Amino acid sequence: MNQAAQKTILVIHGPNLNMLGRREPSVYGKATLADIDAELTADALAMDMTVELFQSNHEGAIVDRIQSAANTVDGVIINPGAYTHTSVAIRDALLLLDVPIIEVHLSNVYKREAFRHQSLISDVVTGKIVGCGAAGYRMALSYFVQTSA
Ligand code: DQA
Repeated sequence: MNQAAQKTILVIHGPNLNMLGRREPSVYGKATLADIDAELTADALAMDMTVELFQSNHEGAIVDRIQSAANTVDGVIINPGAYTHTSVAIRDALLLLDVPIIEVHLSNVYKREAFRHQSLISDVVTGKIVGCGAAGYRMALSYFVQTSA
């Protein structure tokens, strides 16, 4: 855990989220990942926090990033993309952390195909925000203002 007053929050974006803006905009919105990351950076500054931003299309790279976050961040915001529905490895890595974790999905996965209704991480995270588009990340960040963890 970060001993400084200022919290550091790791934001992890999973596969295909680097294509936001071009990827199914009717489902995921028009904002690009750069737009979302810029907003998070600005919001974090305003909330006296720091964000570390990470995107990968590779499951192992996401596992590596989660492992390296142990004892270095105060919280995690994660949208594992399609790995949400398949990755025991990401679930197991998240269990290594003892900080709050917020799961975010841009779309309301419960209004979509049945395979998107299952998340392998929902029962090991602190909370979850779905269907609020890019605003979901900002809502997740604001959670960390209130929590003392
Ligand atoms: C997503 C939902 C997943 O089902 C999908 O595979 C994604 C994005 C979302 O943010 O709505 O890549 O996590």
